Amino acid sequence: MAVHLTLDNENLASTYDEVSNTQFNNGSILIQKLEVEPGDSVLDIGSGTGRLGRHVISVIGQSGNFVGIDPLGERIKIANEKNQYANAVFQIGNAEDLSSIPDNSFDVVYLNAVFHWVLNKEVALQEIFRVLKLGGKVGITTGAKELSSFSGVKLITDNVLKRDPYNKIVRLEDSTQNQHGLTTTALIQLLAGAGLTVKDVQIKEIKRSYPTASDVTKFIEASSFGNFLNHVPESLRDKAKVDIEIELEKQRTKDGITFSGYTIFAVAKKQ
Ligand SMILES: C[S@@+](CC[C@H](N)C(=O)[O-])C[C@H]1O[C@@H](n2cnc3c(N)ncnc32)[C@H](O)[C@@H]1O
Repeated sequence: MAVHLTLDNENLASTYDEVSNTQFNNGSILIQKLEVEPGDSVLDIGSGTGRLGRHVISVIGQSGNFVGIDPLGERIKIANEKNQYANAVFQIGNAEDLSSIPDNSFDVVYLNAVFHWVLNKEVALQEIFRVLKLGGKVGITTGAKELSSFSGVKLITDNVLKRDPYNKIVRLEDSTQNQHGLTTTALIQLLAGAGLTVKDVQIKEIKRSYPTASDVTKFIEASSFGNFLNHVPESLRDKAKVDIEIELEKQRTKDGITFSGYTIFAVAKKQ
């Protein structure tokens, strides 16, 4: 299934800003790996509501320069409302078209929890290579597709969709994750194919806990900007969500509904 950029709304966008702790924590690790410094010029591709961007702006300080782009207007609106810095700007844009940005302009470009959504990854990396300064770095966090069958929520979702009545209509391979996610090997190949030198690749198990099953689905809906279950016909989507929440509830531990997944942290350099 194609990724839809038209399903987002104000509610999903503001929910994302509140519930995206996991992305923020992963992003903070990525920023450390990229060794972002005061004075750096940084491009955040798929900035969303700007939560990680606000952290990066505080790292680069007033002598730095920050641009955040995202295709979703509702998210850029929140990012701009919360931005208090004159040397930072959030604007509508997407990874595959950085034509408004001159060559060799950024020390650091990053995509935190974004690359699996990007439809034309080769073009996006060509563009990133072009806008990076010589010696500049790109950082990416994204799910490790080769380990997605060990990811709690995906496993539960797929198991529910393998049951009646879904199994007659839904093709698991049509989920956006299956269609657009990528393996660690594929990511390394894409980075190298774009002329970048891969410096560091790590896969980390990331654990999350939520008070209720509906908090889990609320998080997934907000972070997928309305694309959760879009491979399920609309008439069955609400029922599927309820069935998934029933299965999630069975995972309850004393810490709440707990599950884990595997995230790739990759850093590459233009040299
Ligand atoms: C899970 S959110 C991550 C937001 C933010 N990077 C963070 O760390 O919280 C995924 C974001 O990717 C953006 N996105 C999807 N397709 C994109 C594309 N082709 N180019 C740039 N951003 C894209 C979405 O609009 C969404 O805001």
